[in-house]
Amino acid sequence: MITARAPATTANLGSGYDTFGAALQRPADEVTVRRAAETTISVSGVGSAGIPTAPGENTAGVVAETLDTPAAIEIQKGVRPASGMGSSAASAAAAAVALNELYDRGLSRTELVSVAAEGEVAASGEVHADNVAPALLGGFTITRPDGTTVVEPDLSLVVCLPEEVVPTRAAREAVPESLSVSDHVETVRNAATLTVGMCRSAPGLVGRGLDDPVVTPARAALVTGYETVRERALAAGATGVTVSGSGPGVLAVARPETQSAVAQAMVDGFASAGVGAEAVQTSVGGGATLVDTA
Ligand code: HSE
Repeated sequence: MITARAPATTANLGSGYDTFGAALQRPADEVTVRRAAETTISVSGVGSAGIPTAPGENTAGVVAETLDTPAAIEIQKGVRPASGMGSSAASAAAAAVALNELYDRGLSRTELVSVAAEGEVAASGEVHADNVAPALLGGFTITRPDGTTVVEPDLSLVVCLPEEVVPTRAAREAVPESLSVSDHVETVRNAATLTVGMCRSAPGLVGRGLDDPVVTPARAALVTGYETVRERALAAGATGVTVSGSGPGVLAVARPETQSAVAQAMVDGFASAGVGAEAVQTSVGGGATLVDTA
């Protein structure tokens, strides 16, 4: 029996659609696997009722199939599904680490990124690795087809989760199919600013680099109260705000001394739009770990 834990993540960070991601110090999923003749899945914890247990429809089940490692898989959800915090990726990453160990496959964490990304197809219909890469490797990640670059900034974050659901598939359908050259220039400028900020653990640069004229405006329209939440977070000291992953979670970059005020301002912002919400005060954290190898 093997248990692995993988963290929540925030993908895109505004200007880095399908490219940037960051591991969050909390919350996390835990996945326990035992050898079996065929794969079965049980799910408990936060939001577990809505998660499919058919192996072909569950990210962890797809990972077991990709690795050819049939197992009884128990998923303990700590990351709320459809929240914009990489819930499906956390399960896929934890399953990949646990199954790799259970069957002694010997794959590196980097090799497991593409395995876990296959699992994401079950959740969104497309392969994208910007959640599974940080869930496996930790830190801030830049995912490319030929590999992933990782830096480990010291950065305070808030993710505010409204009591609404935006399925990843719907959020992907909202993304414009083309952009103007001026929007391209602005996006490159912001992505570069954000990357330098991550390398320097500089919340001011990271916050400015979250701005994105293309994907975020289209998706913000799916999040009730987004503009109010954004304005209040900035007024409380956030250095930048964007949609977390495909939403509806909203990500703010904070400084340690403003983090709790930003969290409260975001909850209040959603409340003023008539939406209940929970704020998670967190930071950029590490990647998946084995927690039990009994
Ligand atoms: N990059 C993906 C998207 C992440 O924004 O659709 C999904 O969590």
